[in-house]
Amino acid sequence: MLEIEVYKAQQRQVIEECVRILKPEGSICWEVGNYVTDGEIIPLDILLYECFKDQGMKMRNRIVWHFGPGLHCKKRFSGRYETINWFTKSDEYVFNLDPIRVPQKYPGKRHFKGPNRGKLSGNPKGKNPSDVWNIPNVKANHVEKTEHPCQFPVSLVQRLVLAMTNEDDLVLDPFMGIGTAVVAAVINGRRGAGAEVVERYYELAVERVKMALVGELRIRPDQPVYEPPPNSKLTMDLWEDQRS
Ligand SMILES: C[S@@+](CC[C@H](N)C(=O)[O-])C[C@H]1O[C@@H](n2cnc3c(N)ncnc32)[C@H](O)[C@@H]1O
Repeated sequence: MLEIEVYKAQQRQVIEECVRILKPEGSICWEVGNYVTDGEIIPLDILLYECFKDQGMKMRNRIVWHFGPGLHCKKRFSGRYETINWFTKSDEYVFNLDPIRVPQKYPGKRHFKGPNRGKLSGNPKGKNPSDVWNIPNVKANHVEKTEHPCQFPVSLVQRLVLAMTNEDDLVLDPFMGIGTAVVAAVINGRRGAGAEVVERYYELAVERVKMALVGELRIRPDQPVYEPPPNSKLTMDLWEDQRS
């Protein structure tokens, strides 16, 4: 069997088990990128979509997680996103928008005509974050960086936890790594559980969760990424750095 087919068969097994134990109002979020072979990409969400549909799951969003630093490609565009594929088991699913609203671009903007003239045009609690999220990935100088090569930022998982679960709900990550999903769960009054094959990562996960529970884990807040204006000196310096 091809490597990619082995991967799909293993993923199918885990997906089936996750669906089996999921509560009727629960959600599954499957985060994947692209498999690259000889310069060809295979989008893993396309590959795995049928594993969810075969289980009767319904897709609610395909969230694009966009991030900055990464490998520079020479013969195709450099990859700067992965996707979070959100499925629910039923139509009665939990979705809390208020806790994950993000700041309005123009918070004080008001309607200037019509029956709502003078009233705020956007929700003062903030706007829906949309299905494209710009959150830095955890690279060398990120405050959350550990020895794990591909850990998620807490704020990425936290948005999912806050939106798709209520307090005391259980968050399970079958590919737990160093426990980011469990951390995001426990700092928000949820319960967390996970599975990890590499013992060292499991140990780190336990350590991080313990630190998170006493407020000692350093976590980057979920705040907008600073983008310098296009012609600023900083932008031009970054541009030069990237070209050299
Ligand atoms: C992309 S990483 C997850 C990182 C995690 N989201 C975090 O932020 O720490 C995937 C993890 O799944 C683990 N893994 C791979 N196959 C596994 C399996 N069959 N059962 C449990 N864990 C597995 C790997 O060791 C790796 O740490």
